[in-house]
Amino acid sequence: MSIIYLPVPRKITSITVEEAILLRRSIREFKKVPIKLEHLSMILWTAYGITNPVKGFRASPSAGATYPLELYVVVGESAVHILEGNYLEAGVYRYIPHIHGLFIKKKGDVRKNLMVAALHQKWVEEAPISIVICAIYERTTRYYGERGRSRYVPIDVGHVGQNIYLMSTALGYGTVAIGAFRDSEVATVIGVESNETPIYIMPIGIPKTTISISFDDIKLYLDRARQ
Ligand SMILES: Cc1cc2nc3c(=O)[nH]c(=O)nc-3n(C[C@H](O)[C@H](O)[C@H](O)COP(=O)(O)O)c2cc1C
Repeated sequence: MSIIYLPVPRKITSITVEEAILLRRSIREFKKVPIKLEHLSMILWTAYGITNPVKGFRASPSAGATYPLELYVVVGESAVHILEGNYLEAGVYRYIPHIHGLFIKKKGDVRKNLMVAALHQKWVEEAPISIVICAIYERTTRYYGERGRSRYVPIDVGHVGQNIYLMSTALGYGTVAIGAFRDSEVATVIGVESNETPIYIMPIGIPKTTISISFDDIKLYLDRARQ
């Protein structure tokens, strides 16, 4: 079994939470530039990494701490930069929170197939990587029954998705939460078992255009709206 240990999480940005929220936008046009491994590490850790080593709690809240989600990273060719001229091998990787590592599940660049499964949304193929969030419903329904399926798991996914949005933004990347795709086709493309249901695809890359919005713009908007 070949495991890639990700760089250990650390304080890496100087942007505040409110600035990241202000600047967050769904991004669908990406530069053909790789993402750094250290940045991928931070995005995965803020999504679902361990933040309480004693109890094993994670960066995102989860109903009853059941943690029903599995995160997969679809990596394109020369898409994740490790060190001088070295890149992560193209493929599909499973994120393993307890060791903060990646396990290669499938070799090769499957971004095109993922784009087709996502109803030809071309940003899925153009982004260097996508994170696919899958749910194993039984982990939550075992305790909460149908409410676990219809409410808790989708809420859990929303938390993870927002953390991916915000950390990506803070690091200068962009992403978009994609819910429109054929579930079974995505599952086949990334090679997951039948008890895992893909919920979100989140392509991540450097935005082609920068977002320019300030708190002054919001003030101006509110001043006008309140007249
Ligand atoms: C549940 C959900 C599903 C979405 N599915 C898609 C999608 O399939 N394709 C896409 O381009 N954007 C998708 N989006 C992104 C929305 O279009 C986007 O959030 C919305 O236009 C608001 O823009 P903003 O995220 O920049 O604030 C989805 C968002 C959510 C929350």
